[in-house]
Amino acid sequence: MTPSSKTSLIIGASRGLGYAMAEEFLKHSWNVVGTVRGQARTPLHDLAQTTPGRVEIETVDITDTAQIAALRSRLAGRTFDLLFVNAGITNNPNETLGEVTTEEFVRVMVTNALSPMRVVEALHHLVSPEGTIGVMSSGQGSVTNNTAGMREVYRGSKAALNTFMRSFAARHAGDAHPMVLMAPGWVRTDLGGPDGRLSIEESVPNLVRTILALQGKPGLQYLDYLGHTVPW
Ligand SMILES: NC(=O)c1ccc[n+]([C@@H]2O[C@H](COP(=O)([O-])OP(=O)(O)OC[C@H]3O[C@@H](n4cnc5c(N)ncnc54)[C@H](OP(=O)(O)O)[C@@H]3O)[C@@H](O)[C@H]2O)c1
Repeated sequence: MTPSSKTSLIIGASRGLGYAMAEEFLKHSWNVVGTVRGQARTPLHDLAQTTPGRVEIETVDITDTAQIAALRSRLAGRTFDLLFVNAGITNNPNETLGEVTTEEFVRVMVTNALSPMRVVEALHHLVSPEGTIGVMSSGQGSVTNNTAGMREVYRGSKAALNTFMRSFAARHAGDAHPMVLMAPGWVRTDLGGPDGRLSIEESVPNLVRTILALQGKPGLQYLDYLGHTVPW
């Protein structure tokens, strides 16, 4: 790691938006610790190879509390300028609450709402006092903007995530951390699918600029990739 640079810890950086965020932070001269699941080689491994000393790869499945605890132990003593929990999943967008199985509902809720907050709870002590704590939400998490329906379970999971993050922020109201729930736009990734409105290149550089602009602004905001406030 380059000692003079800032360092971001990005949870879920193997591919898609999290991977692109890792790439983008390198362009801003930050170092990156990025997490993957399991042992398989990912684009993040290639990035680490082509940028020697600047990308460190860690592993965690955020739905596994033992793995979160192990990650916290491995990172003990480190300090990060940004913790960003990007990991998330979707499910069949057409499935209504009347149709979804309990198992599928639990899978989406645990992955998208409970697990990111478990990571924040476990790792926020590693963030410098004025460092930023961010979580990848979605515009679909806005209760106000939900006039079209669809993606019911996913929407619910991101709305729950938003509320959980507000509770965390309320509990840490005296802290100097900027905190953010990010809505990246509908982006063409494995999760977003081929019909997304934005390319990764249209979303992520703006999203990272929005995160960087939060430095020195304590408190929680719900922002889109262009830095505009999203109504709760
Ligand atoms: N794309 C969009 O249009 C869009 C819009 C709004 C919000 N978002 C949000 O943005 C985030 C990233 O989405 P994406 O489009 O980049 O999706 P993606 O291409 O499917 O990538 C998902 C990432 O999350 C990781 N992940 C999933 N479950 C995990 C778990 N249990 N533990 C650890 N890592 C896990 C994946 O790791 P593996 O490689 O190991 O599976 C991968 O790195 C998600 O939170 C998503 O809800 C996306």
